[in-house]
Amino acid sequence: MHILVTGGCGYVGSHMVRVLRRASHTVTVLDDLSGGDRDTIPPGVELVVGDVRDRVTVTGLLRARGIGAIFHFASRAQVGESVVDPRLYFRDNLAAGIDLLESALDAKVSRFILSSTAAVYGTPVRTPIDEDDPKDPINPYGETKLALERVLARYSSAYGFKSVALRYFNAAGGLPEEGLRENHEPETHLIPLVLDAAHGKRADITVFGSDYPTADGTCVRDYVHVADLADAHLAALDYLERGGATSVFNLGSGRGHSVREVIQTVEAVSGRPVPVVYGPRRDGDPAVLVASPARAERVLGWSARRSSLTEIVKDAWASYTRSAS
Ligand code: UFG
Repeated sequence: MHILVTGGCGYVGSHMVRVLRRASHTVTVLDDLSGGDRDTIPPGVELVVGDVRDRVTVTGLLRARGIGAIFHFASRAQVGESVVDPRLYFRDNLAAGIDLLESALDAKVSRFILSSTAAVYGTPVRTPIDEDDPKDPINPYGETKLALERVLARYSSAYGFKSVALRYFNAAGGLPEEGLRENHEPETHLIPLVLDAAHGKRADITVFGSDYPTADGTCVRDYVHVADLADAHLAALDYLERGGATSVFNLGSGRGHSVREVIQTVEAVSGRPVPVVYGPRRDGDPAVLVASPARAERVLGWSARRSSLTEIVKDAWASYTRSAS
C-alpha cells in the first residue's frame, strides 16, 4: 500500500518510515521540516516539504499517489510550551489536523492513524489506565489531541471515515541499526537528557521532585520503545483493512519505572556515572502514568516486545554514541 506519513522526519515518524519500508510499503513523507530532519529519509522514500494545511497540495498528493492510508505524526508535542503558548497547539495540532482530514475526505482516503497521547487522561483516577477511564487533559497539548480524537469519532459515524488513535505513553529508545534516535530541539525528555549527562554533554540531570508517593519518591512512567510504537501502527492498519471499527488504543508496556530507575539503568548500560541534582516538582507531572495495554493486545494482537527498560536504554545509548562519535 502507498502510505502518507505526515511528520515523517520527526522522532516517531522517522522510525515509522523505516518500519513501513521493511514491511514493503511505498511511503511518501509530508513534513514542513520545522522540527524534523530531512537526513532521516531513507532511499526510496519520497519527501514532500510542505504543510498539512495546504489542501490543494495535500489533496493533489493523495490522489496522484493513490494513497491508501494516512499516518498523522506532524504535530507539536511539548507539554510546557502548550501551556505557555496554547495558540500554537490549537492551530498546529487541532486546526491543521482538521484541514488534513478535509483533504482526506475530498480525496476519499478513509484509513487514518493518529499519533495521540496519554496526556488525554490528565491526572489519572487510577493506574494502570484503561481507554475508557475519564479523559480530562490538564494542558493544551492533551486537549488538542483529545479534540482531534473526538473529531475522528464523529467523522466515523457521519462519513464512514475509519481511523485509529494511538495513545502513546512515554515514547523512548531508537533504532541504532538505522542510525535513528530521539533528538528533539529543545530536548525536554528524560532519557535523552540522562544520556547527555552520562556522555558529559551536560553536567548533570535534575530530578523533578523526590517527594512523590512512589516507592523511591520520584515519578513513575511507562516507557515504550519507538519500534514497538511503529509496529502498533502496522497492526492498526491491518485492523482497519480487516474492517475494524474506529477505535482508540493505549500503547504502553504496562510496567512503570521511576526516574531514579531510569538513571540507574543508564549508568549500568553506559558504564558511566550520571551526576544527579534533586530539584522541585515540575508543574503538571502526575506521580504515576502506566498504561493498561490490554485492548491493543486483545484487538490488535500487539504487545510491547522491545520495551524492557534495559532494552530501551541500550538502544537509546547505542544510537546516541553512534551519532555523537
Ligand atoms: N524528568 C526529570 N528531569 C528532566 C526531565 C524529566 O525528572 O530533566 C521527569 C519528569 O518529571 C517525568 C519523567 O522524567 O516524571 C518523564 O518526563 P518526560 O518529560 O520525558 O516525559 P513526560 O512523562 O512528561 O511526557 C510524556 C510524553 C508527552 C505526554 C506525557 C503525558 O512525552 O508527550 O507523557 O503526560 F504528553
